[in-house]
Amino acid sequence: VATPEIDGQRLWRSLMEMAEVGALPGGGCCRLALSDADRDGRDLFVRWCREAGCEVAVDRVGNIFARRPGSDAGAAAVATGSHLDTQPHGGRFDGAFGVLAGLEVMRSLEEAAVCTVAPLEVVVWTNEEGTRFRPLVGSGVFAGELTVAEADELTASAGVRFADELARIGYRGELAPGERRLAAFVEAHIEQGPLLEAAGVPIGVVTGVQGIRWLRVELTGRDAHAGTTPMALRRDAVAGMAAMVTGLEEIARAGDAELRLTVGRVEVSPNSGGTIAGQVRFNVDLRHPETATLERTEGEIRQLLQRLAGARSLGLGVRRVLARPPVAFDPELVDQVRAAARRLGHGTREIVSGAGHDAMNIAGVAPSAMIFVPCRDGISHNEAEYASPEDLAAGAEVLLHTLLAKAGMGP
Ligand code: GLV
Ligand code: MN
Ligand code: MN
Repeated sequence: VATPEIDGQRLWRSLMEMAEVGALPGGGCCRLALSDADRDGRDLFVRWCREAGCEVAVDRVGNIFARRPGSDAGAAAVATGSHLDTQPHGGRFDGAFGVLAGLEVMRSLEEAAVCTVAPLEVVVWTNEEGTRFRPLVGSGVFAGELTVAEADELTASAGVRFADELARIGYRGELAPGERRLAAFVEAHIEQGPLLEAAGVPIGVVTGVQGIRWLRVELTGRDAHAGTTPMALRRDAVAGMAAMVTGLEEIARAGDAELRLTVGRVEVSPNSGGTIAGQVRFNVDLRHPETATLERTEGEIRQLLQRLAGARSLGLGVRRVLARPPVAFDPELVDQVRAAARRLGHGTREIVSGAGHDAMNIAGVAPSAMIFVPCRDGISHNEAEYASPEDLAAGAEVLLHTLLAKAGMGP
């Protein structure tokens, strides 16, 4: 049995080939969840996994499990993975790195003819980004945060159902989500922020993830003629939304340095230059490492929205569509990540993730941890997102050694 080795160039080539699926002119990727591009990316991954000797299974919400058997067939799998869906102007590494680092681990074990005791799995979680539907759907169902039936009825903005889109792309599988238990889950990911680059280290030992809440706000005014309706007689949903966004930003700036608030999505109806808009929907993304702050800030947000809607005679609906509490990862597994990085001679820094990840859901049902690598200028959710082949290879190496420590080497 040879010592398994990560092939950094093979990992890079796979990332670049995956990046061609849904490639954008600016160098990024658009593989929105359950789109044709998502299907094509999944198909490519499944082919590569089969070529690497894995068995592939798909569950009812489209999560893909690529398994490499261990010597103990009854043992729960030690798992890794991430997501293949992207933001509309996504980069080449967010999600894809964790999935393809997992594949590279499988390939290196296959090449070295290593048999682990526990089986290993690479998982592709469905719809992490939530550009369509809502974020973290596949891992959320796996962890029991929402049911298959609830996921099925989620709708994208054009009213398309999750269940129909999943069936359309051919990834509605048979496995009941959560039926297969995981012994552990380790997700590799680019940092998506500036801390590791500033520290000059290739490995982030992730101790946890901050909490996330999403609010969907719906304002109802009255469609009216832009030329004839006096200013005093308007119920203008766009003007109301603008005042609200300004107020929300003030709330966020007045909070502590860790508070984050974003309105990144706005839908205007009828969205026509000559008509005062009668309806606006927008999304508030709120993040902080502490539940108490999330709770208090959500209260302030709701008060502000009510006050401004009242002052402008706008109907107001506020629906919380996502609430993931802050997560602390499994201390023992986090130690194993740190120890693997040290053994390999890679510099490390502890870090709490600012971005959301599937591992925050899986942490509820299996010991979980994450490995970060730096990305240039901290830029992500942007076509210019970049991580160096060397850092990505270092992250995959730490992943390999953490998974091996957890799964055990067989005979
Ligand atoms: C996930 O991509 C997030 O928005 O944090
Ligand atoms: Mn991601
Ligand atoms: Mn992302």
